[in-house]
Order: sequence, then structure tokens, then C-alpha cells
Amino acid sequence: MRPLGERYPSIPYLAERARRRMPFFAWEYLASGTGSERLVARNRAALDAVELVPRVLKGRFTPDLSTELFGRRYSVPFGAAPVGLSGLMWPGSERMIARTAAKRAMPYCLSTVANESPEAIGPLCGGNGWFQLYTPIDPDIRADLLKRAHDSGFGTLVVTVDVPVGSRRERQLVAGVSVPPRFGPLTLYRAAIRPRWSFETLVHGLPQFRTLAKYVESGTFAGAARHVGKVIDGRPDWDMLDAMRNAWPGHFVIKGILAPEDARRAVRMGADGIVVSNHGGRQFDAAPAAIDALPQVAREVGGRLRVLFDSGIEGGLDILRALSRGADFCLLGRAFLYATAAVGKRGPDLAYDILRTDLETNMIQFGAGNCDAMRPPWHPAATARAAASQRGDAAGQVSPKG
Ligand SMILES: Cc1cc2nc3c(=O)[nH]c(=O)nc-3n(C[C@H](O)[C@H](O)[C@H](O)COP(=O)(O)O)c2cc1C
Repeated sequence: MRPLGERYPSIPYLAERARRRMPFFAWEYLASGTGSERLVARNRAALDAVELVPRVLKGRFTPDLSTELFGRRYSVPFGAAPVGLSGLMWPGSERMIARTAAKRAMPYCLSTVANESPEAIGPLCGGNGWFQLYTPIDPDIRADLLKRAHDSGFGTLVVTVDVPVGSRRERQLVAGVSVPPRFGPLTLYRAAIRPRWSFETLVHGLPQFRTLAKYVESGTFAGAARHVGKVIDGRPDWDMLDAMRNAWPGHFVIKGILAPEDARRAVRMGADGIVVSNHGGRQFDAAPAAIDALPQVAREVGGRLRVLFDSGIEGGLDILRALSRGADFCLLGRAFLYATAAVGKRGPDLAYDILRTDLETNMIQFGAGNCDAMRPPWHPAATARAAASQRGDAAGQVSPKG
């Protein structure tokens, strides 16, 4: 058998293999966007439109991809974004991605509505786990969830603020994706013609909302799904965020910012980071491509907090593009789930290796020896480098590293 890296050399190859292994409803849930999916297309087109002029004659060098973020040094400037219902898309995905996070020194952000609990996943992440919060309405549940996440080893809290309402996803309606799920004959047929997924689901059991299970009355997945919407509220306000910021002892990140005004407010409230994101095109079809919103937001915060980016990344070149537009770090949602669905437990390692190799190759091509060398001239890391280089400090040496 040929090596996996030759059979699936890029994320789109993994996606295609995933599509053939997942039941139709699970695939549609993962791949779809909102509305007529113009924003999904816009994310892709805007990333493709970012052109970078390479610098040549830098000699031999091996780029340093490692990146410091929130007090840790990661091996790469990217990680796995939170994805809800990840155990439905491929059973056991959360554990698989968590193990890669530990092995490869990459962050993994567990979703509130994933199918595993913080207690199960936190210890597997090797200190690289982040916890994503959809804010519970009841302050006691909120406090309990934060305590559970922190006690489980999650050092960074990511509060998602761009889901004020469940968006319309027409493809999901047509595919029969519903919460709570309906197990009609068509759903059962669609599962049956994906025998590997059905087998893995039998082994792992039907997906549960394990993080929220203790707060909902029902023991069944369908019953719990009905209650989840009553427990969590996608419409927090700045006051609620302030309270959580004060209650959370670790790093605090707000996910789903596109407007510079909101970014400024995030700085004022003392957030450690924001994620410039349009939720992978799944919420508001009129929003700008996240990569187009990024430079203005990054300039606005001017290094006073860390700027993360997601939405539409398909390869290492897209990560390079995002760094060149002002991002400090990138996240990928669908890519890691395509990987688990395509090849099972070897998937997240493979996705990491694909992204890393592609990023490294393109950094050499671009002439950048480390992540800071890819920053735009107005980025604080770039201005610090320029100042150091004028002073003649070793840190400011640009060749071959820059
Ligand atoms: C199937 C699916 C489920 C998602 N669930 C969540 C979630 O539970 N919490 C959250 O903050 N973001 C969620 N997101 C958004 C991702 O965290 C991320 O912003 C988005 O996937 C980035 O775009 P990409 O998939 O093109 O990389 C989800 C995305 C997908 C595709």
C-alpha cells in the first residue's frame, strides 16, 4: 500500500476521501455553509487573491515554524478549531485530535458541543488544550463549566460570540440534519451504506453531548439535543464577557470578531486574544471574507492582544497568507475532521504533517526564515525586528532568517 501522504497529499484530497466514507447527513453538516454559501466561496476567493512577492538569494536555511502564544511554544503557527458534533462526523475524533495536539505540540480547542467532555479530553492534550465556550444562561452552570475546564487542564478559554442564533443552512435541511436528530428510514439507509462509519458508531455508541449532559434532564441524545438550546445562550454581551474574564484564571480569547470596533472593545476589556473569523462561512452570508477583515482588525489592536485567524484555510500557503496579513496564529475547523473521517486515527497527524510541510516549503519559496519574517511591515513583530536590525542586534538579523 502506498504511503498515506502520497494517496492524500493535501486537505482537499482528504476531504474527497471523507465524503466517500461519511453518511450524507454527516458530510453535509461538516462541509456546508449558510445561505447560498457565497461567503464560503468568498473566503476561498479572497485567500486565493492574496499574492506574495518572493525574495530570492537567501542561501540555505531551514525555516523555524515554532510560535509562542499564550505562554506556550507551539511547533507551528496553527491549531485545530472547535467543531461541534465532531463525534457524529467521525466517531472518536476528539480523542484523535487531542493526541496529535500532545504529540505535535499544537493547540486543540474542544467545543462545548463536541461529543466528549473536558474531563476526558483535557488530560490527552498534554497541556495544549483550549476550551471553547458557548455561554450557559444559568450563571451557576457557567461557573461550573469554567471550573471543570480549568480543572481538566485547559489553560485557554475561547468564548464564541458569532452565533447569536442558529443560522439557516439549506443544504443541511435538505440532507435531513436536525437537532434533535430524526432516525427515519432514509437516515438509517444513509448510515448503512457507509459501513465503516456505522461500525465505528456501534463501537463508540451514539454521540452524546457529554460536556452538557449533567445539566440536561434527558438521558437520550435526542432528548439532550432538545435541551442544549435551553442551557446555552449564543447572545452574551460585553458585561457577561467581563464577568467571565474576571472569573477565568487562564488566557481569555473572543472568537468571531470581524469589526475593528469590536476588536478595540476586546482590547479594553482585557482579552488576551481574538479570533478573526466568520465561522467558516456558516453563520452570516453577507459577512466579509475573514482574510479581508483581518488587516484592519490587526492594525486596530496594534499588538495589544494576539490576533488569531480562521475561515477557509486549506493548506500551508493559506497560513502563510494569513500571517502576511497580520495574523499571529491560525486555526482550521473542517480540515482536521476531514482527516479523521478520511483515515481514522492517523488522520490528525497526517493533516498536521501536510500543513506543516506545505507551510515550510512555501516559507522557503517566499524567503522567510521564521514566522515573524512573514509579518506585514506595520505588525509590531516586524517593527521590532526592523528596529533591532538598525541597532545591529543579533535578533534583527534578517538573512537568512528573514
Ligand atoms: C461542522 C462545524 C462545526 C463547528 N462547531 C463550532 C463550535 O461548536 N464552536 C465554535 O466556536 N465554532 C465552531 N465551528 C467553527 C470553527 O471553529 C471554525 O471557526 C471554522 O470551521 C473555520 O473555518 P474552516 O472550517 O474553513 O477552517 C464549527 C465549524 C464546523 C465546520
